[in-house]
Amino acid sequence: MLSRSALRAAAHSSRQIGPRSATTTPSFPAVAGKAQCASSTLPSGRRYISMYGYTQAKALVYSKYGEPKDVLSLHKHSISAPHGTQVNLRLLTAPMNPADVNQIQGVYPSKPPFQTALGTTIPTAVGGNEGAFEVISTGAGVKNLTKGDWVIMKRTGQGTWRTHAQLDESQLIRIEDKEGLTPLQVGTVSVNPVTAYRMIRDFCEWDWMRAGEEWLIQNGANSGVGRAAIQLGREWGIKTLNVVRQRKTPEETEALKQELKELGATVVITEEEMLTGNFRDMVNELTRQGREPIRLALNCVGGKNATALAKTLAPDSHMVTYGAMSKQPVALPSGLLIFKNLSFDGFWVSKWGDKNPLLKENTIKDVLQLTRQGRFRDIPVDNVHWSWDAEGHALAESVQGTLGGYRSGKGVFTFTGGDE
Ligand SMILES: NC(=O)c1ccc[n+]([C@@H]2O[C@H](COP(=O)([O-])OP(=O)(O)OC[C@H]3O[C@@H](n4cnc5c(N)ncnc54)[C@H](OP(=O)(O)O)[C@@H]3O)[C@@H](O)[C@H]2O)c1
Repeated sequence: MLSRSALRAAAHSSRQIGPRSATTTPSFPAVAGKAQCASSTLPSGRRYISMYGYTQAKALVYSKYGEPKDVLSLHKHSISAPHGTQVNLRLLTAPMNPADVNQIQGVYPSKPPFQTALGTTIPTAVGGNEGAFEVISTGAGVKNLTKGDWVIMKRTGQGTWRTHAQLDESQLIRIEDKEGLTPLQVGTVSVNPVTAYRMIRDFCEWDWMRAGEEWLIQNGANSGVGRAAIQLGREWGIKTLNVVRQRKTPEETEALKQELKELGATVVITEEEMLTGNFRDMVNELTRQGREPIRLALNCVGGKNATALAKTLAPDSHMVTYGAMSKQPVALPSGLLIFKNLSFDGFWVSKWGDKNPLLKENTIKDVLQLTRQGRFRDIPVDNVHWSWDAEGHALAESVQGTLGGYRSGKGVFTFTGGDE
């Protein structure tokens, strides 16, 4: 039976010690370049807040577009004590998503402005679009955040690959009831799970009286979005037909299928199985000759894979394209449009979130609630421990490494530096 509740969208003191920062912008406010920094690093490699109240920080920045390994570098700077409604933050965890890499390559539609606000000699942008941060200090005007709170950034494009940041309170979402959650869960909630959630909810009129009798089909099913879609489908009584790419050996392919089934996938097949002759028979059998309709297709691959997905859809259904991992265009037989009245849409969570900030917060809350209840599992990750002494080129290489396919987990930065 469908859970309706799951569907509901549902003293601070500011020590202003030392000089104020030279530059202030909405995105990267009140930061001083390293020449002004009065702090130093302890022999252990840990950082500390200077006698003037400055926090030392490092950010993975780029000043031109290109491959991450070529254009990313580590910039050291210092951040003033927060004043007014400013909040100083320390990174907990930030993922490396495909869009982050596309942004650095200059092939993503949203391009953070290059600025000198961090004290770089030439204008730069900070990489990364999502992540969990801990509040380390707050300005006197901050009302809803306190030291120790966990926050995420309200909008994408703010730059999350940095050990520390200073933002205005209004730019942050406080994580209520962080107990029962991990930095990884909080740091990866705002892009992929929100994308899956909104695509399933907003593009298809599900017949909730027929829970367990309607399907969605998706490719890239082992991606962060795909795993979220599987689990939300399971929660909401929607069967999922999931397509993944074949692994090197049959055993590895079987292990991946099993992993997704354990998340709640109804059926998992490979792209190769989908593109062979008897896929149509398989779909007929699974859907009981169409009596259990496939009403939604989620496409992040494109090319022949997307065409095959579209052909499985019942009349009046929807396909939502949200990624283009194969870099192949989506080609559709005209008959699907004329005779089946299928709808083809695109979805971009960044733009959606900017237009619907409250709904985004509620969606995040819903997913985190499922997570606390053990009903929404962590993505597999390839953890990169970012210590204070980490070399810029090593961090840049780990971003570069996320470009290859067939990975065992999503690249994730976890900052391990200390704060005094
Ligand atoms: N529109 C939006 O708002 C939005 C939001 C979030 C994500 N996205 C997009 O959704 C996609 C998945 O993102 P994610 O963060 O969930 O991914 P992820 O967890 O990093 O996983 C990457 C996925 O892409 C697949 N893949 C990689 N190269 C591929 C290729 N050449 N052909 C087919 N599949 C390939 C991988 O399959 P293998 O394991 O077989 O390599 C894996 O399933 C990306 O395109 C991303 O940009 C869009």
